[in-house]
Amino acid sequence: MCGIVGYIGTKQAAPIILDGLSKLEYRGYDSAGMAIYDGGKINITKSVGRLKVLENLTHGGETMPGICGIGHTRWATHGVPSNTNAHPHYNAAETITVVHNGIIENYLHLRQMLTDKGYQFVSETDTEVLAHLLDYYYRGNPLETVTKVLHRVEGSYALGILFADCPDQVFAARKDSPLVVGQNEDGCFIASDVPAILKYTRKVYYVDNQEVVRLRADHMHFYSVDEEELTKEPVTIEWDANAAEKAGYEHFMLKEMYEQPKTVTDTLMPRIKEKDIVIEELNMSDEELNSVNKIHIVACGSAYHAGVTGKYVIEGLARIPVEVDLASEFRYRNPILEEGAMVVVISQSGETADTLAALRESKARGFKVLGIVNVVGSSIAREADNVMYTWAGPEIAVATTKAYSAQLVALYLLAMKFGKARGKIDSKLFASLLGDLKRLPNQIEMLLNNKLKIQKFANRYIGAKDVFFIGRGIDYAISLEGSLKLKEISYIHSEAYAAGELKHGTISLIEEGTLVAAVSTQPDLYAKTISNMVEVKARGAFVLAVTCEENKEIEKAADYVIYIPETNPYFTNSLAIIPLQLFGYYVAVGKGCDVDKPRNLAKSVTVE
Ligand code: M6R
Repeated sequence: MCGIVGYIGTKQAAPIILDGLSKLEYRGYDSAGMAIYDGGKINITKSVGRLKVLENLTHGGETMPGICGIGHTRWATHGVPSNTNAHPHYNAAETITVVHNGIIENYLHLRQMLTDKGYQFVSETDTEVLAHLLDYYYRGNPLETVTKVLHRVEGSYALGILFADCPDQVFAARKDSPLVVGQNEDGCFIASDVPAILKYTRKVYYVDNQEVVRLRADHMHFYSVDEEELTKEPVTIEWDANAAEKAGYEHFMLKEMYEQPKTVTDTLMPRIKEKDIVIEELNMSDEELNSVNKIHIVACGSAYHAGVTGKYVIEGLARIPVEVDLASEFRYRNPILEEGAMVVVISQSGETADTLAALRESKARGFKVLGIVNVVGSSIAREADNVMYTWAGPEIAVATTKAYSAQLVALYLLAMKFGKARGKIDSKLFASLLGDLKRLPNQIEMLLNNKLKIQKFANRYIGAKDVFFIGRGIDYAISLEGSLKLKEISYIHSEAYAAGELKHGTISLIEEGTLVAAVSTQPDLYAKTISNMVEVKARGAFVLAVTCEENKEIEKAADYVIYIPETNPYFTNSLAIIPLQLFGYYVAVGKGCDVDKPRNLAKSVTVE
């Protein structure tokens, strides 16, 4: 979603801001803009479309002189993508300018109040009220002005603000939208996400809710909304800046798919110690694990799909009832959380607005929340009671692959931990499951090496209109994710169905040649899924099957079969998803789609 970069220092600001914004492109955007103070006034340049347009307009920033400025990539919420709606936004005198991520929920009220006072609005955005409100309160003290505005606005924001009167300062503020600041010997930086400034500094400060930062060329000061000065500790970012580069791969998505063996290893191995599973971050004794009588998993998108798998695995191995909710539903459905329940939220970014709201709702009701999170220091990581990190490193492609795979194995570990503590897994089964877990990285690599076969098959479907994914139990969970991977990057309509549900309506959509991907990795259900395959085949479907090597019987019902290596049935998702990710990827590549930045999508959904 929208990106913010700001700089004040001794170097020309515009090229630094453009460079930072380019590192945030993956988040999704439809227009971009920069405001730079040139020594006399603030100049703004904006453009619709890719950042390249803004780069060309400003010759890589060269035509915008000045050593302090703010920049933005906008993902439209209020008003269409256009130059007028793009950020930064000015006050009428063009002396105050602001960039904003998030949503000002009371903007209509504020807009009316300001209009009544004679302010004129040029854009349809909620952000423009901030520029005029800053103007309304400005009496020569920028810090006081910013805090007054923050007291008036409701909703979420990460802000970068520039006052022409005080060109030696840039302001940043945050509530419920991520923001970091950092410093090096050349100046101070603002960014909505670490990769934007990682090239310049590894020491960053996470701005907390309702904090304001005053940045000068050589130092930064932090304040509360009541202007009290705060002391904050920097966090050193450990991951390599190259981790956020393509490293010769055609797309980040392909690179990230290839990183899955490592991601899975990094998430698993530190938690497997001397033939046991040790999840220190859980902070729970065996007695406490035993007292949990229900688990609520809450997440969005692919993280939700990982949660659906988690339900089958935890219920199967630990015999604890698990409810899985979409965070956007959970937060408003007044869920029943009873004593003994535990809430687990899953999120790659750690910033998904609905997931964060679900976490807060659970905490407000007195329940402890475990976060399974990828981004260190993200809002969910900081607000959850306990955090189990998925060590996937930075994920840039909008379509998640490696973080999803890491979430799966984190859930397997949890299931085994609970299962063992509750006496539901005996030592023989535990040892065998551990062996299967350790084999997963190599097996994933093997499947990735089969990419040419999948690519060939995918090329036949670049013209497909509809594709259906079916499966039962864990295979249904895999189908959900396989279907999302295909539709989000290739724009082909696709649905996932529990195979047994087909007859209850969806089968009427099957026509001659419709592709049905049947996932069948659960031995107990092989025969059942084969029946469903036969049913769709009889109505003209072309059936692709993803199954285990032992299930040769399936060849009688399928038109094309992809085999996955042997593992415990609880872990098959980690393997079966690989060919489905590759399938979605190669269909999208074949169609010429922008694989890493699909239309209308953002990497982290920080608004409702
Ligand atoms: O950052 P999160 O894991 O909380 O994000 C959740 C979803 O927005 C995300 O999984 C989304 O569905 C991806 N586009 C899937 O590829």
